Amino acid sequence: MTPLLTVEGLGVEFPVGNWPRRRTLRASFDVSFSVGRGEIVALVGESGSGKSTIGRVIARILPAKAGRVTLHGPGERDTDSFGPRAGEASMRWRQRVQLIFQDPAASLNPVFPVGHPVARALRLHGRADPKTVDERVAAALEAVGLHPGATFATRYPHQLSGGQRQRVSIARALATDPDLVIADEPTSMLDVSIRMDILRLFTTIRASGTRSVLLITHDLASARLVADRVVVLYAGEVMELGPARAVLDAPRHPYAQLLAAAATRSGDLRAPLPAAEGAPKVIDPGPGCPFAPRCAQATDRCRAERPALTAVSPDHAVRCHLVRPE
Ligand SMILES: Nc1ncnc2c1ncn2[C@@H]1O[C@H](COP(=O)(O)OP(=O)(O)OP(=O)(O)O)[C@@H](O)[C@H]1O
Ligand SMILES: [Mg+2]
Repeated sequence: MTPLLTVEGLGVEFPVGNWPRRRTLRASFDVSFSVGRGEIVALVGESGSGKSTIGRVIARILPAKAGRVTLHGPGERDTDSFGPRAGEASMRWRQRVQLIFQDPAASLNPVFPVGHPVARALRLHGRADPKTVDERVAAALEAVGLHPGATFATRYPHQLSGGQRQRVSIARALATDPDLVIADEPTSMLDVSIRMDILRLFTTIRASGTRSVLLITHDLASARLVADRVVVLYAGEVMELGPARAVLDAPRHPYAQLLAAAATRSGDLRAPLPAAEGAPKVIDPGPGCPFAPRCAQATDRCRAERPALTAVSPDHAVRCHLVRPE
């Protein structure tokens, strides 16, 4: 695997409250993983586990307070990296990393026809001269399944269905010719039938062989459908990481097992995560394993000592005191 993105030990701070009560909460995201070229990696975990925060740090919408994010280029010169003290994202970073959000209605301006944001992205990144821009916009819309593209380009967001609007936001993201598309819950507001179609679009993005997708989802069924590898997060920490098949069909971490069991039981894409006492806690998680308070198998050691992410096979790692290498 040729790496495209590597993320190492991110730390994040959230300012909370107003003056004079304003303070800073330090959330340590002990998160290290990589995304290969032409690969779909799913970042899964329940609400509050830190998925969006990590996506926003990688897109440089949120500053990192610790750690490093590197975007590897085809050549040494094209490799770009930022650490805790990096400022604003460069134009180049914005072109190479594109973010797609959960709610396409909110990310499209209602006063413009949907061809407008696609044309703007093309122009901004020097991918269309004024003579060819309409053609390119039509082609970009057709590439995400909106036929005929020229007609769709003139429609307004409210004239499209939720699934069609999500296709427009994907077309806009692809218009910059990015290396990495980060999709944050891109299908959670869509019907099950349309979800599949949108998820298949991500597999066509991967088919380029050079573009990669980081799919952020709390839905294991979506991950199972398209992901090559899966990263399971809990309270801002990677609990298990490995090939999608291994992690989703034979999870080793008790938390990943709980997620997988709940998804299989309901057999539904909209399966809610298991209701259990407590929730992931990214601020001051305490000394032991962050999942220990909810883990049926937790021992005294789990409550006192933080487990390390340990390889169970060459490409599969688990953070649990109770799991032994194969
Ligand atoms: N601006 C903020 N101020 C304080 N805490 C925050 C802020 N943003 C996120 N957090 C905390 O960081 C943790 C991770 O949040 P994040 O939104 O990344 O989770 P998520 O996995 O994307 O959840 P969801 O599935 O609900 O979208 C949560 O516990 C949240 O309370
Ligand atoms: Mg989120």
